[in-house]
Amino acid sequence: MAYLEEMREAQRARGPATILAIGTATPTNCIYQSDFTDYYFRVTNSNHMPHLKAKLKRICEKSMIKKRYIHLTEEMLKENPNISTYEEPSLDARQDILVVEVPKLGEKAASKAIKEWGGRKSDITHLVFCSTSGVDMPGADYQLIKLLGLDPSVKRFMLYHQGCFAGGTVLRLAKDLAENNAGARVLVVCSEITVVTFRGPCETHLDSLVGQALFGDGASAVIVGANPFSTERPLFHMVSASETVLPNSEGSIEGHLREVGLTFHLKDNVPQLISSNIERSLEEAFDPIGVSDWNSLFWISHPGGPAILNQIEATLGLKEEKLRATKHVLSEYGNMSSACVLFILDEMRRRSMEERKATTGEGLTWGVLYGFGPGLTMETIVLHSAPIKYS
Ligand SMILES: CC(C)(COP(=O)(O)OP(=O)(O)OC[C@H]1O[C@@H](n2cnc3c(N)ncnc32)[C@H](O)[C@@H]1OP(=O)(O)O)[C@@H](O)C(=O)NCCC(=O)NCCS
Repeated sequence: MAYLEEMREAQRARGPATILAIGTATPTNCIYQSDFTDYYFRVTNSNHMPHLKAKLKRICEKSMIKKRYIHLTEEMLKENPNISTYEEPSLDARQDILVVEVPKLGEKAASKAIKEWGGRKSDITHLVFCSTSGVDMPGADYQLIKLLGLDPSVKRFMLYHQGCFAGGTVLRLAKDLAENNAGARVLVVCSEITVVTFRGPCETHLDSLVGQALFGDGASAVIVGANPFSTERPLFHMVSASETVLPNSEGSIEGHLREVGLTFHLKDNVPQLISSNIERSLEEAFDPIGVSDWNSLFWISHPGGPAILNQIEATLGLKEEKLRATKHVLSEYGNMSSACVLFILDEMRRRSMEERKATTGEGLTWGVLYGFGPGLTMETIVLHSAPIKYS
């Protein structure tokens, strides 16, 4: 028995899982939110619905989004006209694009993360790939191994169709993998392309219009490992991770894969559900550490939509600057589902360096990362920043 315990001890890493590098990527096609309503009603041949057009314009104006990157171009829509309608079968056309493009966009982000990390590709032991944009067998994880030239014995985990909270899920999984496998180096990739959800407007499905206004394309990647080597640069340590389904939230966010693509369903109580449950989750996460001032934390929140961020700020009395990195990513890219929170981590450490802060977390020590999405599911990760060395 003692032998088994010793063996188990030797298999584990001693230190906490640490984010060692971050990379992000977007398609090149960029759409400004101020132009989106006209564009969307033109390409979906829906200008005969002026009241819906006016509604989308109002939603876009309140979205806090300046621009989004969207793989789907007008030319692609002309080649696949069913994608622009509300209910024509179009899943095959969508899948044909996504099966190729989701791993490719993921590769762009992963290559940047690997370059920053500086390690050898052969030292990557695990791959966690996450996407809500299409499904395939073998999956986007398998395609990414080929694109990157990773070792075929890398241990893979493919998370399809989790939705927006999964930026937290992939970190939670990477943390367990890195801490339970000494020497593990986990490549985590989230890649999201809205080809799966793009569709024309409908009088009776107004929440779909909210999705059209908010979602954008992007991929993000991190390398996670414990006990960094001297050649590696720790960015954020992951101290604890939890997931919960919020009470009385069933059906508040749903997605259903149909012949028409992935349909999006959203109730308007989502901001209230999140904000009324967030303080309890903070208390559970930070009581063991002895932190109770939420303004003493650095914040990374999945930016589902501005109403969620506004209600979190109001409920917790957060200072305006707390969600700065989060709002910046929402404004520059829109809601990129699972990929968002890693973009925000990237923005935070970049801005912290630019402003010559003492740590990667805006000069602060402790931080929190939130994922929100279908369920309604909430992922909570407690982060510890790393000191920044300036030469
Ligand atoms: C959509 C959003 C940007 C609108 O901004 P807002 O400040 O709430 O502005 P308003 O309340 O005036 O809403 C604008 C319009 O959107 C509509 N709207 C908002 N949420 C809606 C929903 N869930 N379903 C359908 N329509 C919705 C409103 O009815 C309103 O329509 P109107 O102009 O015809 O009256 C904002 O409500 C938001 O961020 N919602 C959260 C989105 C979300 O839950 N995302 C999670 C995905 S992970």
